[in-house]
Amino acid sequence: MIFMIKILNFSSDDVKVYFKSLDEALDKILEDEYSKILAVTHPVLLNIYDLKDIFKKRNIDIVVLPEGEKTKSLTKFIELSKIFFEHSLDRYSHVIVLGGGVLGDLCGFLCSVYMRGISFSLVPTTLLSMVDSSIGGKNGIDLDFGKNLLGSFYHPKNIVIDLNFLKSLPEREISSGMAEVIKYAILDDSFILDEIKKEKPDIGKLVELSIDIKSKYVKEDEREKTGKRALLNLGHTLGHAIEARTLYSRFTHGEAVSIGTCFAAFFSYCLGYANIELYKEVKSLFYKYNLPTLYPIDLDVESLRKYILKDKKNISSKIRFVIFKDFSDVFIYPTDFSQIKNCLLKWIEYEKS
Ligand SMILES: NC(=O)c1ccc[n+]([C@@H]2O[C@H](COP(=O)([O-])OP(=O)(O)OC[C@H]3O[C@@H](n4cnc5c(N)ncnc54)[C@H](O)[C@@H]3O)[C@@H](O)[C@H]2O)c1
Repeated sequence: MIFMIKILNFSSDDVKVYFKSLDEALDKILEDEYSKILAVTHPVLLNIYDLKDIFKKRNIDIVVLPEGEKTKSLTKFIELSKIFFEHSLDRYSHVIVLGGGVLGDLCGFLCSVYMRGISFSLVPTTLLSMVDSSIGGKNGIDLDFGKNLLGSFYHPKNIVIDLNFLKSLPEREISSGMAEVIKYAILDDSFILDEIKKEKPDIGKLVELSIDIKSKYVKEDEREKTGKRALLNLGHTLGHAIEARTLYSRFTHGEAVSIGTCFAAFFSYCLGYANIELYKEVKSLFYKYNLPTLYPIDLDVESLRKYILKDKKNISSKIRFVIFKDFSDVFIYPTDFSQIKNCLLKWIEYEKS
């Protein structure tokens, strides 16, 4: 245990982060009075953990939703609204969400608009959701024609970090979360880089340091207006394009971010901002955690154009690509698709030789 309770002071809200077991954290969370409490989770988690007992002894009903990105849909959003209504949730009710980024994004979005906003707690159960999606108040759902197209900024009241959930998480999902942790180390290498490089890194420490870095960036630019928060998108311009191009079924989010960040390092080198040694070092960090570090050459580079041009960071037709000169020296570089394409082709050639 590194810390027990931490308060993240965002300008819109304070968020309490409990570094405790779910059972202990619930005792604290439920000291606040609510008209009704409902828990939402996935069937897989019900089968792994004694969630039924933990909630039953507190008279809290549990709703289960299927796993997978398809749950972040308008259909499930409406279905869940109906469930909230049937469970008589009102403005003074509270929702406890146990799951990864998919469930957090869907439920957070619904809580932000249901009866004009009800409070909720997040219990992230994947590494990615512990270090990334649970922090910062971004919620949303996908539409048929685009990911995260409907959403809101709305913080949870509490976040419970119970590392026990990671015990059942498949290795591939752990690696996926590590991609975001490595991204933080590039953004702000203070202590996290040393920990990542250790043979046996302390996962609790990595989660705590990641939460500190992400919340620092969010605090400085909560509504993504000044560009500071956009730096958190390092590796995501290409990453999101690859995910979308492969229909979200070939790579996990973290795997796509890993490829995207390796490219960002190579792009920084192509542009003369960084040396090749930096690219090699970045690549070795992702490689250490079994993440892909090369461009998937069966994907035609040109076929990424429409996805890269749709990146939400873009302003007018300028692509705002996050690149870096060194660790902790990251900035936004306005570019266009042809420059990205040229460097992607150079990258593929470089790796072939
Ligand atoms: N809001 C944000 O700021 C933000 C940031 C990054 C990503 N996201 C979103 O997060 C989503 C990805 O999140 P994710 O990677 O957590 O995926 P996820 O929520 O789909 O979870 C991954 C898989 O792990 C399973 N799982 C979850 N916890 C488990 C556990 N403890 N043991 C065993 N299996 C478990 C899930 O059922 C699922 O099959 C994407 O939709 C992405 O857009 C949001």
